[in-house]
Amino acid sequence: MYDFKPDSSLDTAERYRQLCDAADALTKDEPDAVANMANVAALIWEFIPDLNWAGFYRVSNAKSAGRELVLGPFVGRPACIRIPIGVGVCGAAAQSGETQRVEDVHSFPGHIACDAASQSELVVPVLRDDRVIAVIDLDSPNTARFTAEDARGLESLARLLSDRI
Ligand code: SME
Repeated sequence: MYDFKPDSSLDTAERYRQLCDAADALTKDEPDAVANMANVAALIWEFIPDLNWAGFYRVSNAKSAGRELVLGPFVGRPACIRIPIGVGVCGAAAQSGETQRVEDVHSFPGHIACDAASQSELVVPVLRDDRVIAVIDLDSPNTARFTAEDARGLESLARLLSDRI
């Protein structure tokens, strides 16, 4: 049994440090990308409070559809399956290669509402060899849920996962 339950009194930086340690332990000897994303989505859900969705979109280069994001492993309600690069918060992160921290999703042009409960969102790109291969997407039912510290913590996780998903 894996028991990675965090202590509820942890501060944000320590919470993400422990999340990264747990993700490292679970993914370092496992070559299967889907298994690793599934476990990391579950870990995010355990470690990070006040979320209603946590998971991955992967960049697909399938010839039939062009470059787009395709839904990967997640925890939360069923979500949009395909998102064009450049569209919505996830598409903006994939296009720019930069973290998107959105305090109020209703004021983000082109935001894609997969779950009406979502009020704020944090999307961090996962890079390999300077190319975006996926994004990690967190949604919260609270407005302005995510701080710069959340962004830094999730960026550390994205760096760790660069060659594991
Ligand atoms: N809101 C996202 C779409 C993905 S869902 O939040 C899971 C966006 O605007 O890209």
